[in-house]
Amino acid sequence: MAILVTGGAGYIGSHTVLALLERGEDVVVLDNLVNASEESLHRVAQLTGKTAAFYPGDIRDSECLARVFGEHQITSVIHFAGLKAVGESVQKPLEYYQNNVAGTLVLLEAMRQAGVHQFIFSSSATVYGEHSPVPYQESMPIGGTTSPYGTSKWMVEQVLQDFAKADPLFSIIALRYFNPVGAHESGLMGEDPGGVPNNLLPYIAQVAIGQREQLSVFGGDYPTKDGTGVRDYIHVMDVAQGHLAAMDHLKQIAGFKAYNLGSGIGYSVLEMVQAFEKASGVTIAYQILPRRAGDLPAFWADAELAKQELGWQVQRGLDVMMRDTWNWQRKNPRGYRS
Ligand code: NAD
Ligand code: UFG
Repeated sequence: MAILVTGGAGYIGSHTVLALLERGEDVVVLDNLVNASEESLHRVAQLTGKTAAFYPGDIRDSECLARVFGEHQITSVIHFAGLKAVGESVQKPLEYYQNNVAGTLVLLEAMRQAGVHQFIFSSSATVYGEHSPVPYQESMPIGGTTSPYGTSKWMVEQVLQDFAKADPLFSIIALRYFNPVGAHESGLMGEDPGGVPNNLLPYIAQVAIGQREQLSVFGGDYPTKDGTGVRDYIHVMDVAQGHLAAMDHLKQIAGFKAYNLGSGIGYSVLEMVQAFEKASGVTIAYQILPRRAGDLPAFWADAELAKQELGWQVQRGLDVMMRDTWNWQRKNPRGYRS
């Protein structure tokens, strides 16, 4: 009896693999390493004393999937694999639809053939699009996405709903993450963006360590508390725990359900800078630039449904997110290449 984790060598996937192994689950990882290093899985083994079976392969490769399902008694699949850079998705839409949408179809077909019916999908707050009022609630209509990346997540959710309706054996949960940040408390695992980070906290951490001169704050004139963008940041280990709660819930439901994984609290960019400075003791140089294309002013989760139905809520506040990010960055200035 094992859980297949696609994209399990990546940022959120590796932290979830760790949490699964710590709970005593058998784990099989499939990852093509397009945005990850196998070193993340070595760190998981170091921390847990347990090893996940690893297949360096692609979710679009049906023969590879048949081998994985043939060689292990898989009972459920947690599907992280995909491309995630919003800006890049505008430049390379076909790659995003191929990996995120077509790849998921190949995976679902392989599951159907193998008789595996429990599925958790990494969705995103971006599916609420640009017109939804905050806080975002799961009952709101989704769509109106502003990038191929966001549209790919929205499309997969539509496919999953139709698929679950057509085949009542399937239980499917889409987890809509808000803004995952932070690292494992050991400082041995964390987020390892290749090149210039797109996301706020990895960028702040690289400024703190001296790899980047200053942070560019995208927009100082939003209608928010201090003019900068507001988001709902959530510790990656809380995200990992959310998957364990969703796994348990899958066994009790049929069909498709979506849940927000967020804290319900919004912090501005400048609040994030201040909190990081407090945790690290390092001053972060920044300049305020024009808004970044495609960014929304402010959004955060209504976190009630996950609390009521999954019995899950965040356990780690902003201080812990900052402490763990700084700890990881200091100990691994070049990420997993250190
Ligand atoms: P990540 O890039 O670190 O992890 C994704 C993993 O999937 C990587 O290890 C990559 O090598 C692998 N992968 C990509 N395409 C693949 C393919 N075709 N076959 C096999 N493996 C493949 O990203 P992450 O931050 O851990 O995100 C995990 C999931 O959560 C993604 O689906 C992402 O879109 C979603 N998500 C992330 C965030 C975020 O802010 N990090 C927010 C919302 C949703
Ligand atoms: N920001 C800066 N400077 C930077 C990077 C970001 O000011 O160098 C600002 C952004 O303008 C935004 C906030 O910091 O106001 C957060 O930006 P991120 O890029 O960290 O995160 P986003 O909210 O833009 O996007 C993230 C993921 C998406 C996902 C979305 C919702 O990258 O994949 O959260 O879950 F869709």
